[in-house]
Amino acid sequence: MSPDEFRTYGYAAIDWIAHYLQNTRDYPVLPDTEPGSLIDALPASGPEDPEPFENILDDFEREIVPRNTQWNHPRFLGYFANSSPPEGILAELLAAALNPNAMLWKSSPAATELEQVTLDWLRQWLGLSPMWFGQILDTASTSTFHAIVAARVRKGHASANDSLTLYASKHAHSSIEKGALAAGIARENIRLIEVDENFSLRPDLLAAAIRADLANGKVPFCVIPTVGTTSVASIDPVRTVLAIAREHEMWVHVDCAYGGSTAIHENYRWVLDGADEADSIVINPHKWLFVPMDLSVFYCRNREWLRDAFSLVPEYLRTEENPRALNFNEYGLPLGRRFRSLKLWFTMRSYGRKRLADLIHQQIENAKRLAAAIAAHPDYEVSAPVHFSLVVFRHRHSDALNLELLQRLNQSGKVLLSPNLLNGKQVIRLAVGNIQTNWSDLEEVWTMIQTTASEMAAAKTPETSKGRCCHSARRTLDL
Ligand SMILES: Cc1ncc(COP(=O)(O)O)c(C=O)c1O
Repeated sequence: MSPDEFRTYGYAAIDWIAHYLQNTRDYPVLPDTEPGSLIDALPASGPEDPEPFENILDDFEREIVPRNTQWNHPRFLGYFANSSPPEGILAELLAAALNPNAMLWKSSPAATELEQVTLDWLRQWLGLSPMWFGQILDTASTSTFHAIVAARVRKGHASANDSLTLYASKHAHSSIEKGALAAGIARENIRLIEVDENFSLRPDLLAAAIRADLANGKVPFCVIPTVGTTSVASIDPVRTVLAIAREHEMWVHVDCAYGGSTAIHENYRWVLDGADEADSIVINPHKWLFVPMDLSVFYCRNREWLRDAFSLVPEYLRTEENPRALNFNEYGLPLGRRFRSLKLWFTMRSYGRKRLADLIHQQIENAKRLAAAIAAHPDYEVSAPVHFSLVVFRHRHSDALNLELLQRLNQSGKVLLSPNLLNGKQVIRLAVGNIQTNWSDLEEVWTMIQTTASEMAAAKTPETSKGRCCHSARRTLDL
């Protein structure tokens, strides 16, 4: 591609993105596509000869976009929503232009040092002490895997054995179990501790489990409390967990992949209570700091603990020693590391802490307002306390109705919600987190939920008993 062609197509791509971001609401959130349809639509083999760039862009619009689940849609409210605002998109473009590999300081001083600068800024915004050593990884799953390996090595085990035992709550994210398995921890030595009525890990049961394991010759080495669990956004008692763990010289890794970023707002500083004394923390700006996928921040109390676990320097990577020249590859699994800090830097600077904190605060307020409306309706219940921006709710009628309701809503293309089972009951998760989601979107979704459920009830109820099953009248949001 010549520089002139690059300009032409580059401007066209930026125009396309600007239009897309402005009109994301017009796209179905969930695409109307069958499994395998893109595979069938594209040629079975790659082209032997170059293709005109116009054709590639056309196919992007015709074949790719309509089959994309629109995570940028303001009514994407499933899983944990994320965002790619223009600032982050431009940073990704520029990072791709420079295309550095931040494995060594020498291989990209800019990417290496910007990672240190942005993670130090973020640390301060979160109210954490200066000793934390941060690095950017792709996902929280990778960050947690690093924590578990470092914890194992710190306990004196360079390799796994069948005694090492790890603890988390029953509501902990599956990445913890997966990370433990990948680190060689035996499946039967992963303890998922029961929770209390607020879905928070019960420290008394944690302490009892550790005692029982010690009596059976196990080696408790790591505990992972969560701040903002995936299923209900519950908060484990980090400080109490820490006190228990410290008695047994166990590593404490705090999974605040979702909930942690709220601490940049003074009102939510408390969510990281105790985390500052833990051994490691994961927090995902790609979940809830409006930074595009992927960017997970892994903080460790002492960078030497990571070096003990991950440093291996072959001759071809050796560089001259300098205390200010950090070689990030020695502190984690990946050698090649892309320039992710650029999009964090662009986001932090374009918005500033106060604006980002206000956005998060507004989303939490909107989620709470919606939860209050749902709780006030006799046909619905809110199934868990709303600490952050996740509302977990269900129609009181039946599991089958909730599943069908969810399916109909998602199939409408106007909203995306996700399912879960909570205490054996089918619930619906609604997670606010996209930067464009506003109160009108939530109001519209609540109306859709009620209307769809009423239509379903009307279709199923025999004429004679209509009105007995549910209070189907739509409630307006006069809050
Ligand atoms: C609490 C929590 N931890 C970890 C993860 C895993 O995140 P990632 O997709 O970045 O691996 C998630 C994902 O939703 C999560 O909610």
